[in-house]
Amino acid sequence: MSVSQQVFLRDAMRRLNLTRDVFAARIGVKRRALDTWLLPEGSQEARNMPEVVGRFVTEIVENESLLQKYAQSAQSGPLRQRIAVDGKHQLLSVDQFSRESVEELFRIADLMQPIARRQKVSRVLEGAVLGNLFFEASTRTRVSFGAAFCRLGGSVCDTTGFTFSSMAKGESIYDTSRVLSGYVDAMVIRHPDQGSVAEFARATNIPVVNGGDGPGEHPSQALLDLYTILTEFSRLGKLLDGAHIALVGDLKYGRTVHSLIKLLALYRGLKFTLVAPKGLEMPDYILEQVGRHGGHVIEQTHSLEEGLVGADVIYATRVQKERFSGEDLEGYSADFQVNKAIVDQCCGPDVIVMHPLPRDSREGANDLSVDLNDDPRLAIFRQTDNGIPVRMAIFAVLLGVEGLVQHSLRDVTWSPPSHIGPDDSIFHGID
Ligand code: CP
Repeated sequence: MSVSQQVFLRDAMRRLNLTRDVFAARIGVKRRALDTWLLPEGSQEARNMPEVVGRFVTEIVENESLLQKYAQSAQSGPLRQRIAVDGKHQLLSVDQFSRESVEELFRIADLMQPIARRQKVSRVLEGAVLGNLFFEASTRTRVSFGAAFCRLGGSVCDTTGFTFSSMAKGESIYDTSRVLSGYVDAMVIRHPDQGSVAEFARATNIPVVNGGDGPGEHPSQALLDLYTILTEFSRLGKLLDGAHIALVGDLKYGRTVHSLIKLLALYRGLKFTLVAPKGLEMPDYILEQVGRHGGHVIEQTHSLEEGLVGADVIYATRVQKERFSGEDLEGYSADFQVNKAIVDQCCGPDVIVMHPLPRDSREGANDLSVDLNDDPRLAIFRQTDNGIPVRMAIFAVLLGVEGLVQHSLRDVTWSPPSHIGPDDSIFHGID
C-alpha cells in the first residue's frame, strides 16, 4: 500500500460515502477494530489492518468506482487546472470548488496529516518562498499558512499592516502585487476591502490565496471547517448529507460563514438554521446562491434556543465590530451566548461546537463561552489544528507538487509531545 492505512481507509469511506458503522459492517469487521486502524501512527491503541482486509476494501472501492469513473473522466486533469480562475492557479473563493474537487483536496490533506502531526517531514517546496501580506489583524491564518509552507520545505517573507508597507505611501494594489511577484513564488493576502484580493490576483501570474477580503470570503477557513466537520462526522458515524447546521452570530459581516454556507451547499438536503441578532442577518445574495442548489431548508431566527434545537453542528462567530457601518451593537446580549447550558438543553451528546476563532473573551462580548472548554463536543482546537494539513494541501495543489508528497516523507528527528495541548488527552483515542 503506497499510502498509510489511515489515509487509505478514510479515502475509501469518503469515496463510498459510508459512515464508520456502515463501512465496518460492509467489510465485516467490528467498529472498534476499524477505529484502531484509523488511529494516527504511533498512538498507543493504533493497530495494523490485516492485509486481507486491505485487499477486500481495494476490491470494493474499485468495483463501485467503475460507474463513477465515466462521470469523472469528463472533468479529468490535475485539480489545480479544474479549480483555476481564468487559467491562473489561485484560491479566491469557494465558488471554484465542486463536491468532487473539494473531496479530492481533502484526500491530499489526509496525506499531509503525518507531517502536520510531526511524525514525518517533507521538502517538496524546498527553495520556494511565500509572501504573506496581511493588511488586517490575524493570528491563525497568517501563522498557519506560513507554518504549512515551511513544513513543506519552503520559506516565508511577510508584511503586516498598512503602516509598514509602501501602501502607506500611496502604492496601488497593482504595483504592490507585480513587485512582490518578482520576489516570491506564491502570495497569501488579507485585506479589509471585499474584492481586493482578486485585484491582487489580476496583477500577477503566481498563485494567490485569499486570506480574507473584508466581509467577502475566507475560503481556506471554510475548507478547514468542512474538513473538520467531515472528520468529526466520520468519528461520530454521521453523514453530512441531511445534517442540521446552525450558524450563529454576525452572519452579515462574518466572511467565514459566507464561504462555509456556500461550500456546505455542495452537499445534499441540509437544514440550515441561521441565528443572528437583528441587523446582522446573512446577506440575500448568499442565501440566493445557496437556494440555487435546491434540496436545502433555510430557517432564519433571532432566538438562539429555537435555532439550536436538534443541531448536528453549532458554528458560532464573533461580532465583527470593526466592519460596522452604523450598527448599534457592543457585543452579543447574554441570551445570545453559546454556552454549556444551552448546548445541553438543545442538542444531543454528539453535537459538535465550532468557531473560526478568535473568540472575544472580553467581558460583555458574550461570544462562545469558555465553560465548554473541557467538553469533548467543543471542536475548536481540532478545527485550528486542521488548518495546517488543509493549507498544506492548498499549496501542494496550487504549486503542482501533490503527487510528490507521499514519496518525499522522512521520519522526524525530534520528539514532539504526544498531545500538543494540555486538554488534548480528553480526546485521545476518539479520532
Ligand atoms: N479564523 C481566522 O481567520 O483567524 P485569524 O483572524 O486569527 O487569522
